[in-house]
Amino acid sequence: TYIIAEPCVDVMDKACVEECPVDCIYEGGRSLYIQPDECVDCGACEPVCPVEAIFYEDDVPDEWDPYLSANADFFDELGSPGGASKVGKTDFDPPFIKSLPPMNE
Ligand code: F3S
Ligand code: F3S
Repeated sequence: TYIIAEPCVDVMDKACVEECPVDCIYEGGRSLYIQPDECVDCGACEPVCPVEAIFYEDDVPDEWDPYLSANADFFDELGSPGGASKVGKTDFDPPFIKSLPPMNE
């Protein structure tokens, strides 16, 4: 799977959402998250993110390792809805992301 890391927090550009052929990029309160079971590793999202927040799971910079589990944890309650557009915006974020200081200043 691909994952979304810290540069997305409070930026949420959403260019990636338009590119994903399987609609597996879901919106939380402060970031977007890729559903790891739904992502087909097409990689289309990665080059379009203006802040370079998207990485293949094996290529995540060490400092952003926690985002691997954060992307998965986001779906603990949501599961695998099979499409982000029908879920829409949620106000949920994994705890450590929720507690980050404002990132867009
Ligand atoms: Fe975030 Fe980049 Fe997508 S800022 S919403 S990962 S285009
Ligand atoms: Fe979609 Fe990106 Fe995966 S475009 S299928 S989330 S690699």
